[in-house]
Amino acid sequence: MLQSLLRTKPIAARGAGGELRRALGPIQLTTLGIGAIIGTGIFVLTGLAAAKYAGPAIVLSFVVAGLGCVFAGLCYAEFAAMVPVSGSAYAYSYATLGEFIAWFVGWNLVLEYLFAAATVSVGWSRYFVKLLEHFDVNFLPAALSAAPFDVAANGVSFVTTGALINLPAVLIASVITVICYVGITQSSLVNAVVVAIKVTIVLLVIAFGSFYISAEHWTPFIPENTGKFGEYGISGILRASGIIFFAYIGFDAVSTAAQEARNPERDMPIGILGSLVICTVLYILMCAVLTGLLPYPDLNDAAPVAVALQAHQGLHWLVPWIVVGALAGLTSVILVMILGQARIFLTMAQDGLIPKVFGAVHPRFQTPHVATLVTGASAALIGGLFPIGILGELVSIGTLIAFITVCIGVLVLRRTRPDLKRPFHVPYVKFVSVAGVGFCSLMALTLPHDTWIRLLVWTFLGLVLYFTYGSKHSVLNTA
Ligand code: ALA
Repeated sequence: MLQSLLRTKPIAARGAGGELRRALGPIQLTTLGIGAIIGTGIFVLTGLAAAKYAGPAIVLSFVVAGLGCVFAGLCYAEFAAMVPVSGSAYAYSYATLGEFIAWFVGWNLVLEYLFAAATVSVGWSRYFVKLLEHFDVNFLPAALSAAPFDVAANGVSFVTTGALINLPAVLIASVITVICYVGITQSSLVNAVVVAIKVTIVLLVIAFGSFYISAEHWTPFIPENTGKFGEYGISGILRASGIIFFAYIGFDAVSTAAQEARNPERDMPIGILGSLVICTVLYILMCAVLTGLLPYPDLNDAAPVAVALQAHQGLHWLVPWIVVGALAGLTSVILVMILGQARIFLTMAQDGLIPKVFGAVHPRFQTPHVATLVTGASAALIGGLFPIGILGELVSIGTLIAFITVCIGVLVLRRTRPDLKRPFHVPYVKFVSVAGVGFCSLMALTLPHDTWIRLLVWTFLGLVLYFTYGSKHSVLNTA
């Protein structure tokens, strides 16, 4: 029994699923990463984290979360160049830490990708309603643009809200599913257009906003702690880093496109690290500008960028563009997350851990069409029914677990298979791996207790599935 839990999958130089179309080069891969990264985090969460926890030192929270991600990103880059298969952290764990851990990671990646697609669909719906309001269009009743369920005051059970369904969330997830279904080239093209729009808008905010910064809003840079852990001071910087970590999620999604990269050995590290570095720089500049435009307590709003711009007459013209930028940003995050989840399902199905039908590849479109449909339909349903808060925290915890496992896995594989060809080497691997585990664990520990309880429930469900299905159908049983 223990032996089968610990069995590892042999490492193949290239993925078995050769049917996927190899259409992506380094620029498309980097764009895919940026597509997945810039979204709800910067457009929604920054304001709350700055106002309630870190003040202007939110910039340092972005540095802390960014460092954790760079360490994890380096480890992802070594794996993705060496094991260029679609399964990402799941596949790397299967090759290093054994089937059971791989399943655990794969199951948590569902929290990252599928739940992120759902979470961001809910955020998209909010901005969409805002845009309609801006043009005085009110055809959508409130009951059709809000979640019918919310978390009860006890933090565990659910209550109904009176709303019927969050229709815009369902619609955006459905439309994007269709794009993902018809092809990677089309998906990459849509992503590129949307990324160009959102990056331009972020650059405009940084460039024009910088003329209106008042240095007095940055003093004190680290507001004094109120006496409560997490309310300003050093602990506030840490708490805020756990929240805005969400903003960085997505660079790892590049690794799920390994089987569609023309030259994964060279281009995976470029895509993963390139997108991460570009977004880290943009985030830090954007936060410095936002906290320089007005006193940090005023940023406590679901649309903090708009609020900061509204504080200065000369920046009002940018406000409607923020809504466009946010809608574009969120659209590409949903797209890359659905793409990524479908490819992880594909790999898990090829390994026999989930039903084979998830591994089907469309004969003409060369996409994992069944996995795409199931992912899209589930994201639409979850996004249509549940509120954004609980979904977002689950995404963060699932992702942090994947990052920690990848950081450990890279070191394990250096020991167990030093002979493998590594097109990309993590420099100072011991330090990077340990620092990655440290930073990511620190951020996971700052997440609320309720999130940990939901993680336990999710893990329990996963264990039931593994022991009733996965372990019985694993292709390693017959190997
Ligand atoms: N990083 C993505 C976002 O902020 C998930 O929306």
